[in-house]
Amino acid sequence: MSQAIESTLNESRVFPPVPAAQLKFSRWQVSSLEQYREMHKRSLEDPEGFWGEAAAVLRWAREWDKVLEWKAPDAKWFGGGQINACYNCVDRHVEDGHGEEVGIIWEGEPMSRRTGHPATGSHYAPMHELRWLRYREIQRETARLGNALKGMGVKKGDVVTIYMPMVPELVIAVLACARIGAAHSVIFGGFAPHAIVERVTDASSKVIITADGGFRKGEVIELKKNVDEACEVLATTPNKVRNVVVLQRTGARVEWRPGRDVWWHDAVEGASDHCPCEPMDAEDMLFLLYTSGSTGKPKGIVHTTAGYLVYTNLTARVTFNLIPGTGQVFWCTADVGWVTGHSYVIYGIMSNRVPTLMYEGAPNFPGNDRFWDIVARHRVTQLYTAPTAIRTFMKWGDEHPARHDLSSLKVLGTVGEPINPEAWMWYHTHIGGGRCPVVDTYWQTETGGHVITPLPGATPTKPGSCTLPMFGIDAAVVNEAGEEMPRNHGGLLAIRRPWPGMLRGIFGNRERFVQGYWSRLKDPKTGEPYYFSADGARCDPDGYFWVMGRVDDVINVSGHRLGTMEVESALVSHPGVAEAAVVGMPHEIKGTGICAFVTMKPAWMQAQSRTADEALRKELSNHVGHEIGAIARPDQVRFAEALPKTRSGKIMRRLLRDVAAGVEKITQDTTTLEDFSVVARLRGEEE
Ligand code: WT7
Repeated sequence: MSQAIESTLNESRVFPPVPAAQLKFSRWQVSSLEQYREMHKRSLEDPEGFWGEAAAVLRWAREWDKVLEWKAPDAKWFGGGQINACYNCVDRHVEDGHGEEVGIIWEGEPMSRRTGHPATGSHYAPMHELRWLRYREIQRETARLGNALKGMGVKKGDVVTIYMPMVPELVIAVLACARIGAAHSVIFGGFAPHAIVERVTDASSKVIITADGGFRKGEVIELKKNVDEACEVLATTPNKVRNVVVLQRTGARVEWRPGRDVWWHDAVEGASDHCPCEPMDAEDMLFLLYTSGSTGKPKGIVHTTAGYLVYTNLTARVTFNLIPGTGQVFWCTADVGWVTGHSYVIYGIMSNRVPTLMYEGAPNFPGNDRFWDIVARHRVTQLYTAPTAIRTFMKWGDEHPARHDLSSLKVLGTVGEPINPEAWMWYHTHIGGGRCPVVDTYWQTETGGHVITPLPGATPTKPGSCTLPMFGIDAAVVNEAGEEMPRNHGGLLAIRRPWPGMLRGIFGNRERFVQGYWSRLKDPKTGEPYYFSADGARCDPDGYFWVMGRVDDVINVSGHRLGTMEVESALVSHPGVAEAAVVGMPHEIKGTGICAFVTMKPAWMQAQSRTADEALRKELSNHVGHEIGAIARPDQVRFAEALPKTRSGKIMRRLLRDVAAGVEKITQDTTTLEDFSVVARLRGEEE
């Protein structure tokens, strides 16, 4: 932690917000730091007044009785109110006369249907697969799918699992669930069958929506096959899957289970396009989203309807300066499988009636300038991406963005992990042309939306700092006793009161919810629990926050959260592995890479006549990829005779982190086994 402080302490550059005159008018636009401070102060002093006004932007089926009831750790926002999220993202715009406006702009991979694999030699003519969906059409399609789901027995309160590629039907599936009052549980398309089994079981979900495949770099990702594999396992459990709805996207051949499998087009054919939006109680569950924690089992983060919608609607508007009807095109490059996609591809953006752009493929297909080509052709006004992507673009070279007209861009956002000042500067200079404010948005799956972020017209920015708290957020850097740390001292990042977008629980696990978030930190005077983010941070003398990263056993790989225990469990499920310890290590592009220390079973090694070599490394790495998904594949597998442990038997993780980060033995030396005994003895009983 101290190293992280030192490296950013020397960062003293400050960039002014964009002058108010350059921003179009909106009632919610914040155009000076003073105005921000005033509004923030008011939001804390009068939360009910502030959030009541924010909520009034949306249309309710029944107005709320009380803005907030709080008995830690349980918050009830907008109690007595009824609202539907799909209605506010779609139908409301149609009713207001905007049905012909575009809600979703979609770009698929080029030539995806027409040519074979690049290796076959077929050339890529720049032919793009594009779709523009108007609100009227989105309304009709969510209604038809909503009715089809009802026909399959999906009822209000049920959980529908969605495992799809980045196509408009993914958004339609999400909104169709919201429409009929079913909770959605989206699983990122990069996850493996085992991850589907875990999540479907935990949520007791009976219906899965998927596709025959998705395109990535000219190849078909076989999503249906993964679902089939998962269903095979699930069939042996009490949680059998009743129906699998399959979108035809690639035309790839799929196995078919009659009775269970239904083509999307068959399901919606003849379904009525009249499907009223179900009025939902404010605290009814809107969705479940699984994320990694410090145990081996992912946790289903519960978000509820009204508070989440109000919070994403407001944060999207003020952080990105969204103004409907002014030609803005918002592009968030995240997959809908992550919370960023939920909040800032779908709910926050669509509820503001600004077109949301979706892109199906990879940033380097067919060329390394694909993103800039998209920005230029669609005249993207706000771009929201991750530091890991920015570092990759830096590596690919300045000439790629330089070839394209990026003059439409107004605001640049980043999210997912701390951004290093070099990447911030490159983004600001080479993508933003020095004129676009960079909003470094800090938040989590649990927070629903941005909790610490600059506002483009108000906040002077400093490269590497996510700056100041969002309205309603009482953030502080505290010590274990809950006392605020002096400026420039590292501590734990806490939020000292509830906010509308906060998680309401972990699905089916009250204990883990209370223990994980609300037990470690409290108000030293009143004993009132604080929300604990599991991040370390410091505040500088201007009150700017500098997030330093996780303080638990979660690592942030390319902005994706992974539990070290999950990766360890995957490793020990390999028949030859006796023991494994996984730690994060600095990685130039990913931010944090995965380093796995593995002890093999000698008997297995002998029986299989294997040696600790490169082939075995690869096998273990692939095994993890097969168990969890490609994102969890270790960057380094290092063999050890035994793992270094304290006398009480705890793995010395700090030592392993040092070894992983250190220069010694970092070479891909294939045969040496690490001998930790000496170091361990020197270090004694640590951790
Ligand atoms: C963790 C949450 C929120 C959407 C994407 C990740 C890290 C996220 C920032 C940022 C520094 C950041 C934190 C956090 N993080 N954004 N701007 N600066 N760190 O969501 O998967 O729930 O991960 O990502 O460590 O705890 P997530």
